Amino acid sequence: MDTAKALVADDKGLLAMDESDPTCNKRFAKLGIPQTVETRRAYRELIVTTPGLGESISGAILYDETIRQKKKDSTPFLKVLTDAGIIPGIKVDTGAKDLAAHPGEKITEGLDGLRDRLAEYFQMGARFAKWRAVIAVGDGLPSRSGLEANAHALARYATLCQEAGLVPIVEPEVLMDGDHTLEQCRAATEEVLRNVFIQLNCQRVLLEGMILKPNLVLPGLTCSQQASVDEVTDATVNCLLRTVPAAVPGIAFLSGGQSAELASARLNAMNVRFKSRLPWALAFSFARAIQQPTLEIWQGKEANVKAAQQALIHRARCNRAARRGEYTAAMER
Ligand code: 13P
Repeated sequence: MDTAKALVADDKGLLAMDESDPTCNKRFAKLGIPQTVETRRAYRELIVTTPGLGESISGAILYDETIRQKKKDSTPFLKVLTDAGIIPGIKVDTGAKDLAAHPGEKITEGLDGLRDRLAEYFQMGARFAKWRAVIAVGDGLPSRSGLEANAHALARYATLCQEAGLVPIVEPEVLMDGDHTLEQCRAATEEVLRNVFIQLNCQRVLLEGMILKPNLVLPGLTCSQQASVDEVTDATVNCLLRTVPAAVPGIAFLSGGQSAELASARLNAMNVRFKSRLPWALAFSFARAIQQPTLEIWQGKEANVKAAQQALIHRARCNRAARRGEYTAAMER
């Protein structure tokens, strides 16, 4: 419970830097950055050594490769983060695979052997974990059985985390891909969250000791009718009020492919318009919306490290400001 509270305290948020090797390589490939263990390590060193990161970031989500890595001078990343006041976390699912007999739907794997892996990560110094379920919206999707299977896996994972002393970040992501409407996303997200909390209760998860990491309610990327910031924030907050118990200390949104600036603007609008009426903190747990500008500046080159770190700290500060309802477009200039 203390760790869960600390993760959303002081208007800070989480930095997701837990891209699996294939995902990290895909992002590197797009920018022509070599896809090697060393470039992935160098990039993560750039992130964890960014001066002042702990002023806006409460926790960083690592991956099995990165939690074992060190700076060039041999200091473990775990020590660098802890020294900066940042709580280390770890992604523990092993990825979303096709769900049998459910075309277009995925199930996240990783429960086998999870108890032993969690014990090792705790012993290494991790204090929270992450598991991501992905839910597609479309014709007849999500199916009830697909949605229940994912909610069940999330709940099994969450109880195992709490048994091991780790705060579970429970991430059911309704994807932005597709031409579905805002209303379809709202209906799917509401159904997903309802099922997730039913399963969390069934599996005896302590709500005070978890963080929810949901998507915003948004129209699909190729939907002809896009939504205003107010429409998105209304739909998102109403959906969460209907589904997320007040005992949960914090909701930390994923960015899901929104631009960095839009993600900050929407988080800001939610806090400006609703903060005083909400039982939980509305925070962030962004990967792309914090890292993308940094990666584009870095391009794998040592000479660009300082500028890339400045871009990272800028996004972290913008999102902390958004938690306070103090983010403005002028901050981007
Ligand atoms: P994005 O913010 O890029 O969606 O990533 C968040 C995350 O951790 C996905 O699991």
